Amino acid sequence: MSAGQFVSNCTADALSQAATQLKAGSLVAFPTETVYGLGADANNEAAVARIYEVKGRPANHPLIVHIGSMQAISDWATDIPEYAIALARKYWPGPMTLIFKRSDLAMNFITGGQESVGLRVPEHTVALALLNEFSKIGGKGIAAPSANRFGHVSPTTATAVKEELSEYLLPEDLILDGGPSQVGVESTIIDCTQSAPRILRPGAITIEMIEEATGEKISGVGDEIRVSGSLENHYAPRAKVLLNTEARIGEGLIALADIPTPSGAIRLAEPRNSEEFARVMYSALRDADARKLEKVVVIEPLGEGIAIAIRDRLERASKGR
Ligand code: TXA
Ligand code: MG
Repeated sequence: MSAGQFVSNCTADALSQAATQLKAGSLVAFPTETVYGLGADANNEAAVARIYEVKGRPANHPLIVHIGSMQAISDWATDIPEYAIALARKYWPGPMTLIFKRSDLAMNFITGGQESVGLRVPEHTVALALLNEFSKIGGKGIAAPSANRFGHVSPTTATAVKEELSEYLLPEDLILDGGPSQVGVESTIIDCTQSAPRILRPGAITIEMIEEATGEKISGVGDEIRVSGSLENHYAPRAKVLLNTEARIGEGLIALADIPTPSGAIRLAEPRNSEEFARVMYSALRDADARKLEKVVVIEPLGEGIAIAIRDRLERASKGR
């Protein structure tokens, strides 16, 4: 059976209806600039439990709470450092999640029992309008992981969400279509519980951008806090991902446009730069599965900036499911 109503035209009325259904305990998958999220009322334990069920995700993995503006930080968090305010001012709405000490509002069913909570203001008109409608009817935040089954590739289109999750959704759940995600990889996660910021997951908000906003020197990507995206095998398609090797006959190939396709290989994407690479990478990996390819070769982009996030996800994808 497949369910989850597909909403292709996100009018003001449709979004106000979606907010009402969220408040009533339904799940609403929605677009963000990074990837699509599977949303539930972050104050409704039963609704949040359904996220875990639909994703097939272990219950001790914390969820990000999406909020409509930085004013809502103090609802969910305490002990907010100056550098975090600077980051929020500069990069929200945007592809950045900040981890704070939690307030009483952030219950164990959101934080996976940890003393911290992750917050993000997404930069997408549909997501922001949904958050705004939700807040009008008393909603405090929308808990949303990426809208994929646990360990799989994150969806960057509404159709990918439907293919991935509709068999697990109920008829009253919704999938909002807001077009393809423009960033394409998940948000940068920054731990703001210590005296200086620390990157837990790289993304489009880069080390240089964080240093610029905060005046703090950032040490390498940390891994002491439990982040499910830090599990080694994650973001993986069914096809085996091979990195930086020559694609053979019948194998898929994802590489920058200036890298030629060996004869007999199947070109899945040829982005012109790292930003475009990030934007098309997940849909190209899904395409490999849709074409039932056994192997897909990916030539990783070099350099800094978002290329660091791309290589991070690809290394994990290459570990398989
Ligand atoms: O771009 C994104 O961040 C997307 C969109 C939908 O906003 N969301 C996303 O959620 O990627 P998810 O659940 O797939 O990945 C969020 C990561 C998880 O690895 C989770 O463990 C970590 O954030 N996380 C959430 N709360 C945390 C906390 N309090 N402390 C440490 N890690 C946390
Ligand atoms: Mg995820």
